Amino acid sequence: MMIQTIKTTPYGDQKPGTSGLRKRVTVYQQPHYVENYLQAIFDSLEGFDGQTLVIGGDGRFYNDVAIQTAIRMAAANGFGRVLVGQGGLLSTPAASHVIRHHKAYGGLVLSASHNPGGPDGDFGIKYNIGNGGPAPERITDAAYERTKVIDTYKTIDAPDVALDQIGTQHSGEMVVEVIDPVADYAALMETLFDFDAIRALFASGFRMTFDAMNAITGPYAHAILEDKLGAPKGTVKNGTPLPDFGQGHPDPNLVYCKDMFDLMMTPDGPDFGAASDGDGDRNLIIGKNRFVTPSDSLALLAANAHLAPGYKSGIAGIARSMPTSAAADRVADKLGIEMHETPTGWKFFGNLLDAGRVTICGEESAGTGSDHVREKDGLWAVLLWLNIVAVRKQGVDEIVREHWATFGRNYYTRHDYEEVDATIAGKLVDDLRAQLPSLPGKNFGEDLQVAYADDFKYLDPVDGSTSAKQGVRIGFTDGSRIVLRLSGTGTVGATLRLYLERYEAADGRHDLETQTALEPLIGLSEQLAGIKQRTGRKDPSVIT
Ligand code: G6P
Ligand code: ZN
Repeated sequence: MMIQTIKTTPYGDQKPGTSGLRKRVTVYQQPHYVENYLQAIFDSLEGFDGQTLVIGGDGRFYNDVAIQTAIRMAAANGFGRVLVGQGGLLSTPAASHVIRHHKAYGGLVLSASHNPGGPDGDFGIKYNIGNGGPAPERITDAAYERTKVIDTYKTIDAPDVALDQIGTQHSGEMVVEVIDPVADYAALMETLFDFDAIRALFASGFRMTFDAMNAITGPYAHAILEDKLGAPKGTVKNGTPLPDFGQGHPDPNLVYCKDMFDLMMTPDGPDFGAASDGDGDRNLIIGKNRFVTPSDSLALLAANAHLAPGYKSGIAGIARSMPTSAAADRVADKLGIEMHETPTGWKFFGNLLDAGRVTICGEESAGTGSDHVREKDGLWAVLLWLNIVAVRKQGVDEIVREHWATFGRNYYTRHDYEEVDATIAGKLVDDLRAQLPSLPGKNFGEDLQVAYADDFKYLDPVDGSTSAKQGVRIGFTDGSRIVLRLSGTGTVGATLRLYLERYEAADGRHDLETQTALEPLIGLSEQLAGIKQRTGRKDPSVIT
């Protein structure tokens, strides 16, 4: 095998964010851009000679090009085998499972998640380690340092692999196995959930609609929901992955799934609505007349997980990202199990999951998952919900209301200001940080007294590492919270995220409109941070 060492020059912008390196496709199309980043990753790893690398992506534009490049470079760098999903496809949770199941050294997940795809859209590369989860900062930081000085990369002169043909091929001397992207994952789901109970639910006439958003979950949802569980054909909508996601925005939220939301609010609409994002790790859950916020969904899934066979002996603990509401904390408290608050980004759950300290994790950004893989998992959340509905024989709305009547309700909303001038956004957060020491003890209005105000710093209880400056939190004595941070996943300018939360006790008022319930906090956050005033925006770009 002739290894070629190709000269290159560094790019200055290859710093991975919350979840890998996400850039416009046009940025990735620059000469050697993919190669530089992949070589920098490989240079930051050790001991993979002869080992297995998993490669797969969400099928977006440029996946095919990047995968062929990655296969040749993996061969040149000394990997012994590549496992790649047929057509280059693997959902992010399926990639995580394939890495674990086949004891691979690691994997490359090619996706920009919920960001739009196509020639004018986004592309991304993320490296996952052998536990199936996103690489920790130690590795992503090393890769970034390497991108700044990289001067050569290694590849081989070999033809493209036929990605549509399942079976064994070679790239140079390296073995390439093209695998069914769905099979391993579907088998795993069958071990976790009561498929018979869910089958009986569908057989009894329960109606569901699932929007795969023209993205990666389509083949998984067709195979599991329709073929295995007997949901009627047509339950899965937009089920064929398209390189540009049908020009849609594959983010399962109330903006991009508004049609489904409207349908779910009609009297003769389906009983259950769900959706997943570009790479299949996020989820949206809507019952008849009831949208379930991701924060509530985490709490509800944790409280009811024991109803599914995979979790019947209970859960060890729960983890949530810092901006996620504290609804799950009340469940952990009642169950007497560990509760962890981590920075935004699934990678921070990895150590806790590996150490067996938590079983279920979730984020306000529509991610929930468990120790079955090391990524969040959209379809997993949907199946756990279906399992719970099937066993409890109650609708989503009834289950949610009973939960609030037991634990109380955490009203919750997130206001995003997208594509804000990065300098203005940075200054705004800095100025709020500067106010923090003066806030504890202060009263605002009648009922809001600041209990604490800080910039979240995480101490990983497993490996002792720390991550500072993870977002400003202002907590109030009644359990309310204001959180402000800069998104780490945007590709243009800066995105400011304002998270607001208010707790209403078990015997309190649970039927207020969310934005109305949070109005005093919305007003106070503008008074403290001045987002509208300083950005000139009248309203948030997205409210979730
Ligand atoms: C991705 C990550 C999540 C994160 C979300 C929002 O989906 O996998 O872990 O919560 O992005 O991150 P951001 O930095 O944009 O708020
Ligand atoms: Zn995603």
